[in-house]
Amino acid sequence: MATTTPSQGILSEERSEERDQLIELLQQAYWMELETVMSYLANSINPDGVRAQEIRESLAQDVQEELGHAQQFGARIKELYGVVPGSLAFTASQDSLQPPTQQTDIVHVIKGVIEAESGAIDHYNKVIEFCDDVDLVTQDMVIAILRDEEGHRRLFEGYLREYQAEGLA
Ligand SMILES: [Fe+2]
Ligand SMILES: [Fe+2]
Repeated sequence: MATTTPSQGILSEERSEERDQLIELLQQAYWMELETVMSYLANSINPDGVRAQEIRESLAQDVQEELGHAQQFGARIKELYGVVPGSLAFTASQDSLQPPTQQTDIVHVIKGVIEAESGAIDHYNKVIEFCDDVDLVTQDMVIAILRDEEGHRRLFEGYLREYQAEGLA
């Protein structure tokens, strides 16, 4: 018997309401990743000074990783019968990752990254919780992404500790 929609799980007709809620959470995640791409890209270029190199290289690498996360969120939105939004639907919110007044202000960048990663960690924990008994495939994907963000935050907490130890942060 041919059916047009799968009869079980999150893709079923009966779960369409939960699916819509989940798509909204995933669209928000998608935008967070893309704004992080913009912020990290700028901060992988702007910083000046002897100690900026490590941060710039680290963020340049993260740009690729965060873009990969956006691609995963986008693919999952489509799998759930949603549509990946266009750029006009985007609203920026990463205040703490705007360029500092002095481009040698590395602590500003480090703190901004920690705040952005913490925001992602909060949102992804929320998505993971929502996915309980709803969609284990999305949950599995977001758990893997959450681990990346926890790793990013830990790395930048380490950078901050170095500045704190020297009384510079
Ligand atoms: Fe990410
Ligand atoms: Fe990240």
